[in-house]
Amino acid sequence: MLRRPRRNRQSAGIRQMQQETRLHVSNLVYPLFLVDGKGIRTEVSSLPGNYRHSPDEALRTVESCLELGLSNFILFPSIEEKLKDKEATFSYHQDNFYLKVSRKIKEAFPESTLISDVAMDPYSSDGHDGLVSNGQILNDETLPILGKMAVAQAQAGFDIIGPSDMMDGRVGYIREAMDDSGFTNVGIMSYTAKYASAFYGPFRDALDSAPKDGDKKTYQMNPANRREALLEAELDTLEGADYLMVKPALHYLDVISDLKASSDLPIAAYHVSGECAMLIAACEKGWLDYQQAMPEAVLSIKRAGADVIITYFARDLAEILKNS
Ligand code: PBG
Repeated sequence: MLRRPRRNRQSAGIRQMQQETRLHVSNLVYPLFLVDGKGIRTEVSSLPGNYRHSPDEALRTVESCLELGLSNFILFPSIEEKLKDKEATFSYHQDNFYLKVSRKIKEAFPESTLISDVAMDPYSSDGHDGLVSNGQILNDETLPILGKMAVAQAQAGFDIIGPSDMMDGRVGYIREAMDDSGFTNVGIMSYTAKYASAFYGPFRDALDSAPKDGDKKTYQMNPANRREALLEAELDTLEGADYLMVKPALHYLDVISDLKASSDLPIAAYHVSGECAMLIAACEKGWLDYQQAMPEAVLSIKRAGADVIITYFARDLAEILKNS
């Protein structure tokens, strides 16, 4: 045999020398769920190891992550039902604790990178990402709300704004709204190819944000479609996106790979709550080994082409990477 690929797998040194993909903590983003109050740290039952944090607890969590070298966070608010309305007005209200806590984190830890979520669902009494009228989710009418939300978040110190509603014309509208308010340096990570997936369940439990009626199939993408992601990527790029995101990640590695090959923008991937929950559950049952299976899952997302990986495993992975 002239060709023996096993020669390159002989020793740890040789294997590492020609290893193609490496995980690094700087590429990881840790999602944090926030609630108003004090001293609150409630575990999300469908996503063990993840919590709804009150602002004081969030600051402590951020600090402990920074000690591990993990400095990128994406923040999501859990809003009391009585503060929700059809127009999501609390999303840009000056009393919104989400805006206050991000300002505090940024002041206490200027080295952190904070990514926001721009969508109506956590604040909407309908549980939808847009205005609802006669059962229809309105596209253009929702834009001014998102513009106000994005500017309020930029004012609060977010580094990157994350429009996640998967409707049309978001990136361009938000870019203009932020530029008009002087936030030309605040970036946009667009949820470019976000699918109408069944894997968002634990996230909706955490935020109590499931749609009250119907589903999200008229705005989020059909899981069967691959080429459509290229169209979405083209539009977001023309509208001024700084990052293109694919979501979910593990079940959509082909889409990550396509966007990486066709775009010069950094590609982000969101390893979503349901994808993480199934691995956690299998490990709890003793069917998989967490220390091995979890890093392999995240590595696969990187190998597919993701530059930025948003994962609920970010903190545990940062710990493993630090010790290895
Ligand atoms: C909604 C939003 C969702 C997630 C992030 N932003 C859920 C949805 O579209 O219903 C899901 C993330 C996850 O499951 O981890 N704006």
